[in-house]
Amino acid sequence: MTFPRLSVAAEALPLSIFARLYEKLAGWKGDVIPLQIGDTYLMPPPAGRLAQQDYRDERDLYAYGPAPGWPPLVAALTEKVRTRNRIPVEDGGVQVTAGATHALACCVGALLDPGDEIILLTPHWPLIRGIAQSRSVVSIEVPFSQMLLADPSLDPYALIARAVSARTRALYLCTPNNPDGLVLDEAVLGAIARVAHQAGLWVLADEVYEHYTYDRPHVSIASLPGMAERTLTVGSFSKSYGQAGLRVGYVAGPRTVIEAVRKMSNHSVYNVPHALQRAALASLREGQGFLDEARARYRQARDQAVAALKLPVRVPEGSTYLFVDFAGHGCGPEGCLPVLERIAAAGVLLAPGAPFGLAYADWARLCFTAVDEARLLEGIERINRVL
Ligand SMILES: Cc1ncc(COP(=O)(O)O)c(C=O)c1O
Repeated sequence: MTFPRLSVAAEALPLSIFARLYEKLAGWKGDVIPLQIGDTYLMPPPAGRLAQQDYRDERDLYAYGPAPGWPPLVAALTEKVRTRNRIPVEDGGVQVTAGATHALACCVGALLDPGDEIILLTPHWPLIRGIAQSRSVVSIEVPFSQMLLADPSLDPYALIARAVSARTRALYLCTPNNPDGLVLDEAVLGAIARVAHQAGLWVLADEVYEHYTYDRPHVSIASLPGMAERTLTVGSFSKSYGQAGLRVGYVAGPRTVIEAVRKMSNHSVYNVPHALQRAALASLREGQGFLDEARARYRQARDQAVAALKLPVRVPEGSTYLFVDFAGHGCGPEGCLPVLERIAAAGVLLAPGAPFGLAYADWARLCFTAVDEARLLEGIERINRVL
């Protein structure tokens, strides 16, 4: 029997970056401490839990929903983006998606063609590369946040401008950044905006950690003069309210561009499940207490993790991760994978650095909100022992 081949993109995309670590983990019989995934141990705001929703008016729950999203959620998000993010979106400028992952896939589908280039400021959230790859869009990596952290006198404009080519159509940034927690200030965002203006680029602003900054405020690049017209800003209930399982996210941007994003959403999931959008809206309306408490707890977890880990690490200004350089601790041609395997054999998982950018194979990411503080410190103690 013969079959057609699989698509080039499907062949090229990695299935799991953790497969080798899981093999090593199999020998560990005790408590497994999963610090590799970006998640939270906190339950969502009480109002946003599924059991709290009034699901009696069943017709809406079982019918197809409007393509842009459930109107009350779209209205509340539009208001939130205008007031909190200071982005002047028009009515019709918000699209609800199946998480930020789907949001970014729809943005890439709406803005880029095969062979176009997208600049990724690295280290970057790994899935953006695969999203680009699945559409035959070429990722151009620009080492950025670690460069600025190492040498604040570097010119962010120059770092990016030299990577622009005639094929560049878009730039992806993440602030606060996953994996290193850098929160971009207005000066750096202004430099990025200048590149975007001069080269005529779209900007994909991944702001899913906007509520989790500890040392400086979050600024949306779309709030800078002239940037709302060329920026798509992405948010997520996964990160803001600990509702990753609901798979609800959104994109805000110029109405005409959002219409193109909507086509992509409509042709992939059709609409996000109504029942889940309701729980998201409840969090948005009543989750301020959760945000304040989660931020305080995450900050404490961050500080304890930095203090406990016996490796030098920069204190992240935002997000929920430590990005750790394992150079000098047994890295080889495969980067720090051998070290991470030894750590996995002690029942602790970390995310290998290579998927965050070609320059980061010796690095690994540790999520300090995935488990409660006692298990976090136990996990770090085990890492220290392995090292
Ligand atoms: C920077 C960043 N963007 C997007 C996402 C995707 O979030 P969602 O769960 O909403 O798809 C994540 C999840 O880890 C993330 O860290």
